[in-house]
Amino acid sequence: MKQLKNIILFSALVVVCLGFKPTKSPNQSIFGNIEKEYRLSKSFNFYSQEKDTSKWVAPAEADNLKNPIDVNEETLTEGSNIYKINCRSCHGRKGDGTGVEAADLNSIVTDFTNSDFLKQTDGAIFWKIAEGRIMKEKNAQGKDDMEAFKDDLEEEEIWLLVNYIKTFSIEEDK
Ligand code: HEC
Repeated sequence: MKQLKNIILFSALVVVCLGFKPTKSPNQSIFGNIEKEYRLSKSFNFYSQEKDTSKWVAPAEADNLKNPIDVNEETLTEGSNIYKINCRSCHGRKGDGTGVEAADLNSIVTDFTNSDFLKQTDGAIFWKIAEGRIMKEKNAQGKDDMEAFKDDLEEEEIWLLVNYIKTFSIEEDK
């Protein structure tokens, strides 16, 4: 008799539970969750910006610019001094793009030891330093990540930098 009572109670419980079945089909709620997570990840990216990895190419005319500076110990030392003041905070002590400011930028700081970087002409490198890159998003300082240096540096100083930053791939220690 007690057993029968238990069976009835159990059945009643099952009926009650089935009554509270969710009205949405399971598929719908799964999509709902995916969409929610997607939205969450997007709003997260709003704070931890995805880096802009699009390629930056100098105009073809830049290849015709002639580098007037000889590469020797003296000119490389001059280049190194200008680099320390203006470039090292982003491009890093070893020119590999790991300067202290790099992580806070919207774009990836170029690694000067990379073979793609070295495939360019001196003129193209000069042009990029002089003109900078206009970015879609400004950085925390309200500036482009790679700013134009033509107003801050003399042409000769930019050529000294061109020669110097090409040496990161061959020299071990700076
Ligand atoms: C505030 C950070 C910052 C500073 C300071 C900075 N750069 Fe950059 N630089 C970048 C970033 C970021 C890029 C990558 C831009 C891109 O490709 O979108 C870059 C790219 C370059 C490139 C182009 C490389 C390539 O192959 O496309 C050259 C050359 C360069 N920098 C030289 C310099 C020199 C020389 C200085 C100092 C006078 C300097 N940069 C200072 C952030 C910086």
